[in-house]
Amino acid sequence: MTITAPAEPQTATDATGLPAWFSHDRFGMFIHWGLYALPARHEWVKNRERITDADYQKYFDHFDPDLFDATDWARRARAAGMKYVVLTTKHHEGFALWDSKLTDYKSTATRFGRDIVREFVDAVRAEGLRVGFYHSLIDWHHPDFTIDGVHPRRDDGAEAIAALNEGRDMARYRDYLHGQVSELLTDYGKIDYLFYDFSYRDNDHEDIWGGKGRDDWGSSELLELTRRLQPGIIVNDRLDLPGDIVTPEQYQPDKPMEVDGVQVPWEACQTLNGSWGYDRDNLNLKSVDLLVRMLVDGVSNNGNMLLNIGPTGRGEFDGVSRQTLDGIGEWMRRHDRSVYGAGPAAFQAPAGTVYTQRGDRLYLHLFTWPFEHVHLPDLAGRVAYAQLLHDASEIHYREIPPGTRAQNTGLGGQPAGTLTLTLPIVRPDVAVPVVEIFLKDA
Ligand code: GLC
Repeated sequence: MTITAPAEPQTATDATGLPAWFSHDRFGMFIHWGLYALPARHEWVKNRERITDADYQKYFDHFDPDLFDATDWARRARAAGMKYVVLTTKHHEGFALWDSKLTDYKSTATRFGRDIVREFVDAVRAEGLRVGFYHSLIDWHHPDFTIDGVHPRRDDGAEAIAALNEGRDMARYRDYLHGQVSELLTDYGKIDYLFYDFSYRDNDHEDIWGGKGRDDWGSSELLELTRRLQPGIIVNDRLDLPGDIVTPEQYQPDKPMEVDGVQVPWEACQTLNGSWGYDRDNLNLKSVDLLVRMLVDGVSNNGNMLLNIGPTGRGEFDGVSRQTLDGIGEWMRRHDRSVYGAGPAAFQAPAGTVYTQRGDRLYLHLFTWPFEHVHLPDLAGRVAYAQLLHDASEIHYREIPPGTRAQNTGLGGQPAGTLTLTLPIVRPDVAVPVVEIFLKDA
């Protein structure tokens, strides 16, 4: 029997009133796992291929992830520098990864027989990481969930759909949804984060049979329930109500995000290959250095990154995911000072670079490697020391007096206030080189 810690309120908050860990930690792991790992061709496979419940049943019958080891998942997340892990407790297919009392469509009723959420929560906590749940508002398996424009049965024809919808009752589905969320937020100790997914009431592309939103989910009550059961939990913005954070998906905001002109905490969720669930033949892979650039670019715009892994049907991270996480971890091991507790800088970064800042430390991320010199506006007179972050090797800098002409080997032509760094010719062999700049005052 596992003993889980009681829910307790978290007190430290950041400038926006959110629990402080979120904007400090910056980097989390998303895990999309469910029956769709078996077809291994995207977590929306049931929808995309319009698969019936009867035909989807074979994945339930063959779900037996014998290599599942939550401790291995959690350790890999920690080694990659991630500070929180968010697991799909249920995705749109409706399959529950825990021992829900409200359904038999759950992991404990498969031949595998284990409560995956329980093992996940315990392992993630044991590694000292924060625990997050993703929970799908959508359910393509529940008999009361009405057929709409994104349902696998959407193309069955008006008559068949009307017949299918006859007797379906979203009020009963709402009870089920709220009941399952209650289980998850009551029986697994402290949960730090909840990613509800998603509302599509006004979705132009799904207007044939309509969409669903806050009234269908009972969003106000669900949000109230969530906060009551888990004081201090961070909730996303997909209930068709404003949440604590904004969640851009598979794109990078190019500036701090705002709602009605006010900056808001945000987190970009990103995939390794465009798919969330394990997608065997999808090789559209992001490289380690691209992912690191995305992470620091987000931090420079005051955002977090939630990077997804889709474990296989055997229950483990596939080879590419492991290598990618290892590569990110190798970078984070030496460079995490530019990420944790850091945010946008008070200075304008030169072209091809991105700054993050934490107090008196300014981090210059060099996305391209220039020949020997990089000119930093407005930093003249303000720097006490500079070094390459990965090896703490000194970086020389100087101010070229304004008005100096460039001639022969002499640099010049820089505006007043410019500080010029001298970099080694050879680019350091790290995913993204970083210069750590110690400011005299901040
Ligand atoms: C979506 C998709 C989905 C994925 C998610 C992650 O809206 O429906 O499959 O789980 O976003 O953000």
